[in-house]
Amino acid sequence: MFANYDSPEHHLAKRPGLTGELRKLLFDTPKEEWGSHSNYWRGADMWQSIHRSLLHESGLFVSGLEQLSDMPNGDMQSALLLNNLRQLGGHLIGHAHVHHHVEDDHYFPRFKEVFPQLGRPIDLLDCDHRVLEETLDAVENHVRALQAETADKDRIGAALVDAGKLDHILNRHLADEEDIVIPALLKGL
Ligand SMILES: [Fe+2]
Ligand SMILES: [Fe+2]
Repeated sequence: MFANYDSPEHHLAKRPGLTGELRKLLFDTPKEEWGSHSNYWRGADMWQSIHRSLLHESGLFVSGLEQLSDMPNGDMQSALLLNNLRQLGGHLIGHAHVHHHVEDDHYFPRFKEVFPQLGRPIDLLDCDHRVLEETLDAVENHVRALQAETADKDRIGAALVDAGKLDHILNRHLADEEDIVIPALLKGL
């Protein structure tokens, strides 16, 4: 558990980035050097590629919903897009859940064991996952409700609000997670 997680400087939906106090606990390999590091291909590459793909899916989901909200209800084009968005949304949600579980069950405990100084930053990421799971559940409910017969402007608008929120917190979480985790992976886990 991360003390005072709900404060604006720590909560995933409110913070502008990691605090200086947390940054002091991290290994300081600069981001520009990650890709050329000799250990980059031993896990850090995979980690970043999963993050890129989650952000790509999330971005497509938001822009698809924006497009859908501008289309007339019930025409063929909007029905096709709706169908695609249900599949894309379902995939994004499943992908994010699996990724969080792998981190929660395997990587985070391992990081804390090998690098005890990362305990607090990892606890922050752990709390982030709870926030992400709540928003993923909200988005999942929208995806279920987005059926051709019932997907009116209000429903699409509500889905767009939560998809936008998910995209925002996913970007924040993954950027901060990489700053915490990638330099540690480069040290060798
Ligand atoms: Fe994570
Ligand atoms: Fe991650």
